[in-house]
Amino acid sequence: MIPSRKHAIFCFAVLAFALGSNADYDEDEIETEPIDRSYEAQLLVRKVIAEDVLVEFSNITVTYGIFNTGGSAAFSVDLTDASWGDLYEVVEGEASQSWTRIAAGASVNHTIIVKPKYAGPLMNQPAKVTYLPTSDTDEPQVVGSSLPVGKVLSSAEKYMKMALQVGKYLTLGFVRTEGEWKVFGSLSAVLFALFMGNTMALKGKAWHKDRQSRIAMEALGVSDESK
Ligand SMILES: *[C@@H]1O[C@H](CO)[C@@H](O)[C@H](O)[C@H]1NC(C)=O
Ligand SMILES: *[C@@H]1O[C@H](CO)[C@@H](O)[C@H](O)[C@H]1NC(C)=O
Repeated sequence: MIPSRKHAIFCFAVLAFALGSNADYDEDEIETEPIDRSYEAQLLVRKVIAEDVLVEFSNITVTYGIFNTGGSAAFSVDLTDASWGDLYEVVEGEASQSWTRIAAGASVNHTIIVKPKYAGPLMNQPAKVTYLPTSDTDEPQVVGSSLPVGKVLSSAEKYMKMALQVGKYLTLGFVRTEGEWKVFGSLSAVLFALFMGNTMALKGKAWHKDRQSRIAMEALGVSDESK
């Protein structure tokens, strides 16, 4: 490939940028970068979790989406995600994946299933993708994926959450939070005690009445055949 005028300008721009750039790393600079990269591959990487509720020892479906928004195909694309060490079990799929080529404007997906062995804030890190942005370069580009955030519930927390969901319907939306449940719970306990107390009292009365009539009948010399 004959080096074009555009290439020469580009190289000059890279040099100028390298010389001019501040040693302090500033994320904003990536967005305002003046270099024309429109004829290179430019990959955007998304990492998303399918489940709304994450629970310890339950499957989490992780999908990596890679979009090539650049003007060239990307080559030797390697995805790695170092998130799934000791804290997870990878139950399906591979934590890393490679593609020889991703065409300009194309996207690929990669899905794996992992099981967290802990409860607490979701522990993970961005996936890393390296790629060659044109067919005539050996200089790989590196991009990080977006980072899902969330919380892995313990089994107990899951049941509490489910109970809250059910409770919300049972109480017509009156009881929604854990705190409200505690109040509602104590109230219910009191009502239950009152109800049970009342039932016992009624039973007691019935028994008393029954006993009185038996005594009366015995006094009259009538034997109670029903016993
Ligand atoms: C979790 O994922 C594995 C692997 O795909 C599957 O065999 C298993 O049935 C899943 N478990 C549940 C509860 O969905
Ligand atoms: C990747 O997943 C996204 C979101 O689910 C979907 O819109 C897209 O079509 C998928 N791409 C491919 C190449 O399967």
